[in-house]
Amino acid sequence: MRNWINRIHQGDCLTLLAEMPDASVNLVVTSPPYNLLNSSGNGMKNGNGGKWSRAALMQGYVDHGDAMPHSDYVEWQRRCLNEMLRVLAPDGAIFYNHKWRVQKGLLQDRADIIDGFPVRQIIIWQRSGGFNHNPGYFLPTYEVIYLITKPQFRLAPKAGGIGDVWSIRQDRGNPHPASFPVELARRAIAATTAEIVLDPFIGSGTTAVAALMEGRQYVGIDLSEEYCQFARQRVSDVAREMERSSEAPEIPSALEVRAMLERTSEPQPARQNFRP
Ligand SMILES: C[S@@+](CC[C@H](N)C(=O)[O-])C[C@H]1O[C@@H](n2cnc3c(N)ncnc32)[C@H](O)[C@@H]1O
Repeated sequence: MRNWINRIHQGDCLTLLAEMPDASVNLVVTSPPYNLLNSSGNGMKNGNGGKWSRAALMQGYVDHGDAMPHSDYVEWQRRCLNEMLRVLAPDGAIFYNHKWRVQKGLLQDRADIIDGFPVRQIIIWQRSGGFNHNPGYFLPTYEVIYLITKPQFRLAPKAGGIGDVWSIRQDRGNPHPASFPVELARRAIAATTAEIVLDPFIGSGTTAVAALMEGRQYVGIDLSEEYCQFARQRVSDVAREMERSSEAPEIPSALEVRAMLERTSEPQPARQNFRP
């Protein structure tokens, strides 16, 4: 694993995962492309600014169109999940972030992707706002995180009390069109004792940054060299900042937040997203 760890690798994740040994990572935290542009309607109409703005996601990612035929997309994601399970240790787990949506007036959950996989729990990521103001249904304000586990997976001591609804503001100020917040990845990692964390769709490097902040190792993969370069720079900026500062990283870990909440009945202090 020496060539894999603490690096961001450019390439197709199925191709690169196939080169990784069985049971070589302890945790996967990831958010795949959602196939947003294969949609009966499209809520991604009002992104704003940025080098790779959310509006730019209307054209897909830099190197991925995000518009596969639905059945191809499902099959692709199932192959990715199978590979993630293969490289995962027997006590490992996958935090697989996805989004449900309405298609032709009916809910499209992601049951067809996760059918048959060992899903232990669905975590609700309650995020602010959304784009999809549709008169037929309420504004979506959450995404899901499927906790897909190997049989021996256990949470870190006391982490279970965090609960299964995570209220975390969506990421801001990140030039990547579909980044999740550092706090989200950090909470998942902190809730485990994993040493090596893999993200096969690492985009702007969020999972690597979170792993670094939690004192873990990471393996990152993304198809886009442009995103990989950004992620590498972001990770090295964070590492430098952490080295420079003798203080704790800017964002308290989820477990620290919980400990703080246990000590006081005061409202939870506002948390900031790390920005490179
Ligand atoms: C939802 S984004 C992930 C964003 C990431 N969580 C972050 O916080 O920046 C999905 C990523 O998958 C990448 N991607 C698309 N197809 C891929 C493939 N075949 N192999 C690896 N990465 C791929 C895209 O370039 C995109 O960066």
